[in-house]
Amino acid sequence: MKVLILYSTTDGQTRNIASYIASILQVTDVCDVIDLRHAQHLDLQRYQKVVVGASIRYGHFNPLLEKFIKQNLEILNQMPSAFYAVNLTARKPEKRTVQTNPYVRKFLIKTPWKPALSTVFAGALRYPRYRWMDRLMIQFIMRLTGGETDTSKDVEYTDWDDVTRFAEDIAKMPYEK
Ligand SMILES: Cc1cc2nc3c(=O)[nH]c(=O)nc-3n(C[C@H](O)[C@H](O)[C@H](O)COP(=O)(O)O)c2cc1C
Repeated sequence: MKVLILYSTTDGQTRNIASYIASILQVTDVCDVIDLRHAQHLDLQRYQKVVVGASIRYGHFNPLLEKFIKQNLEILNQMPSAFYAVNLTARKPEKRTVQTNPYVRKFLIKTPWKPALSTVFAGALRYPRYRWMDRLMIQFIMRLTGGETDTSKDVEYTDWDDVTRFAEDIAKMPYEK
């Protein structure tokens, strides 16, 4: 079986999660892991399953996500598909479900895509990598929301056991041979 795993990332965490999912699925299946920026001319018919991951930046997913969904809506809704979101709001356990994470809840209400599986993962806080303006903004948000404010820190909140479970659920999704 061939699985397409697409991701939209700025600082790399959503790509790391995509690669981790692939490493689990590749035990039995073939995976292509591709940046959403390079997904314009992909033929989804070549795959039996598709997974799309996207991170949040200043309250929004990359507009490429919506564009990709619009361009591939029919086939996306016909084949087994899964969606995962990545953000720092999900570092709080009470904001780590599709119902309680505001970005995911809103996205799933709005999008005409109906993925069979959806989830949200906590991302990473990588102060040393941010440009000074982003560092300042994120520090301000962290101060407001009770998070890490030490800008020398690089903190990964992703629960890799959650990612493993998601990958196992993807493996179990029925598909047409
Ligand atoms: C400039 C910037 C803005 C962000 N805005 C938000 C936000 O509005 N809400 C949120 O929950 N997380 C926000 N985050 C956290 C990211 O979603 C998190 O760091 C995630 O791991 C980024 O994924 P990526 O490395 O794949 O881009 C922001 C991070 C940065 C650097």
